Amino acid sequence: MNEFKGKVVLVTGASSGIGAEIAIVFAKHQVRLSITGRNEENLKKVAEECRKLGAKEVLEIIADLSKDNEAEKIVEETIKMFQNMDILINNAGTVSLSLLSKATREEFDETFDVNVKAVVFLTQQAIPYLEKTKGNIVNISSIASHFYDPKVLLYSMSKAALDQFTRTVALEVAEKGIRVNSVNPGYVPTNILRLICDTSEEKEDFQKLSSTLHPLGKQNLTVEEIADSVLYLASERAKMVTGVCLDVDRGRSLTGQ
Ligand SMILES: NC(=O)c1ccc[n+]([C@@H]2O[C@H](COP(=O)([O-])OP(=O)(O)OC[C@H]3O[C@@H](n4cnc5c(N)ncnc54)[C@H](OP(=O)(O)O)[C@@H]3O)[C@@H](O)[C@H]2O)c1
Repeated sequence: MNEFKGKVVLVTGASSGIGAEIAIVFAKHQVRLSITGRNEENLKKVAEECRKLGAKEVLEIIADLSKDNEAEKIVEETIKMFQNMDILINNAGTVSLSLLSKATREEFDETFDVNVKAVVFLTQQAIPYLEKTKGNIVNISSIASHFYDPKVLLYSMSKAALDQFTRTVALEVAEKGIRVNSVNPGYVPTNILRLICDTSEEKEDFQKLSSTLHPLGKQNLTVEEIADSVLYLASERAKMVTGVCLDVDRGRSLTGQ
């Protein structure tokens, strides 16, 4: 039996990387999808793929989550099209290189607006609908939330805030029958690397190094592995799981590297 069939699933940041794969995995389970991103062309491609793979309906929403009120717009448009919501995946995120000595107010605002503020207000708007369906939320955080790497100070701080949001909101909305969890990936090769590596050599070095850091196999994680973990937390199999920030990192966090 396919428990997800016909459910309404909203995935932010589905135009690329992890979010695109999450949308694809849900599409295979014949859900009704609302997907968001800034890049119209990429989002359209993902939507087409989702339709081919079995999604009942796909709504594409172009929204920039660094701007006020765009998060609320996403929920409004989703409800206008589908009337309800079962699963919310807060995946859209950004990263910057930001030692304290070099950090700027612009980088701070961009990182926290997208990774934290948009999640808070999108979720706030979605709660009444998730209460009706006894739905659930999966946030995409990062193992950076509990790493101490000075080069990504602002990103790590934003993901630590997101973990706090996950646990605290899980407690607030448990009485409404809503579960809230997060998946915290280790490094996964996606477009996000362009934001912290300038050259292809830098990218290659980064990927090589990170692949050596995993006790559970000397290879990088894949978007499919992250999407599978999201599917688990969103499913009935996890019906007793809430307030959990699940590291999916081939054991990297255990090494403290
Ligand atoms: N890749 C990793 O190693 C890794 C590890 C841990 C956690 N994560 C987290 O995983 C999530 C997805 O990242 P990814 O690796 O899949 O990166 P990605 O391929 O760059 O995808 C990021 C997604 O977020 C969207 N996004 C970024 N800024 C946005 C904004 N201002 N407004 C609206 N949408 C915005 C992008 O939309 P457009 O492209 O259309 O602009 C894209 O769909 C993020 O939350 C990231 O922090 C990634």
